[in-house]
Amino acid sequence: MRASVCGPAEDRERAMSTTQGTGASVGTALREAVAGVPLWYHTMELAPGVVTPGWFDLRSVVDRVPWPDVRGLRCLDVATSDGFLAFELERRGAAEVVALDIEHHEDWDWLPRDRSSGPAHLGGLAGEKGRGFSVAAGALGSSVQRRLCSVYDLDPETMGTFDVVVCGWLLLHLRDPFRALEAIRRVCGQWFVSIEQIDPRLTVLDWRRGAMSVRGEIGQWLVPSRLGVSRMLEVAGFDILDTTRPYATPFGPSHPPVRRGRGRVVGDLLCRGRGVPTVAVLARPAPGLPGTAPGLPGTAPGLPGTAPGLPGTAPGLPGTAPGLGDGAP
Ligand SMILES: C[S@@+](CC[C@H](N)C(=O)[O-])C[C@H]1O[C@@H](n2cnc3c(N)ncnc32)[C@H](O)[C@@H]1O
Repeated sequence: MRASVCGPAEDRERAMSTTQGTGASVGTALREAVAGVPLWYHTMELAPGVVTPGWFDLRSVVDRVPWPDVRGLRCLDVATSDGFLAFELERRGAAEVVALDIEHHEDWDWLPRDRSSGPAHLGGLAGEKGRGFSVAAGALGSSVQRRLCSVYDLDPETMGTFDVVVCGWLLLHLRDPFRALEAIRRVCGQWFVSIEQIDPRLTVLDWRRGAMSVRGEIGQWLVPSRLGVSRMLEVAGFDILDTTRPYATPFGPSHPPVRRGRGRVVGDLLCRGRGVPTVAVLARPAPGLPGTAPGLPGTAPGLPGTAPGLPGTAPGLPGTAPGLGDGAP
């Protein structure tokens, strides 16, 4: 497993230095640092009046998420991108936040037909991964630690366990979302917050079963219905505590124009707003299952639990090829 503390350090330091000085010079220097990032995924206010031009703007919907009380807890944000959810955990009083992401565009689970072109496409759009995170962390004076590791490789022996794990908008980009969920369960002590894009038409048509639509757009494998998200978590060994109604995650200022098809209209009606149809789920590891983090609430004492090499996680099995998938939701 590769799990190093990282981030283009110069970006972080440069952004930190932009916060020293007088008001006007701080604003100018930070704006320059923000403009130096070729693609922002998250729209974030880094200082009064300095807002990153992200593809998505989670600010108005972040309180829709059924957050547990994270104060004083050790938290993990899986697939952090520019770090919006990691910074939110820190803002909510987490004692420690680790923000996980892959190192290179090549590491996505690319669909076979995008495998050769996908990384170059993303590299051309976004440049080096992690630059936005570094600028944002520096400007916010954040202590969040960015670590390079695939979700599939999460391991309590190298990373420890986390009281709270958050994972947003990743499962649709994975060839094996269940394996990822099992890996998350291994390091999840108490709470798992899952935030995912949903398929609005399936949510309406098949609202009593967990359903998924097979996508095939760049970097996208499967998108579940609202109930499909909860069913995926249950199948992977979580108990569901709360699921939101569908809501729309707004596009940010730099998102490319969106084609208005029938699916979009259904989504807007279902979510009562324009944006990406989303649900957020609060779950916890089901007690007593193999692979549940040891010694934490939700684990039955004396049950097997932490050994690596649990079903479906053995290294070298089909399904571990380096991978695919950016493409924003
Ligand atoms: C759509 S963005 C999600 C951003 C953020 N989590 C959110 O909810 O707004 C997907 C992120 O997943 C990361 N990613 C893709 N495959 C991954 C993997 N196998 N393990 C960890 N992160 C991965 C990408 O690098 C990217 O930063």
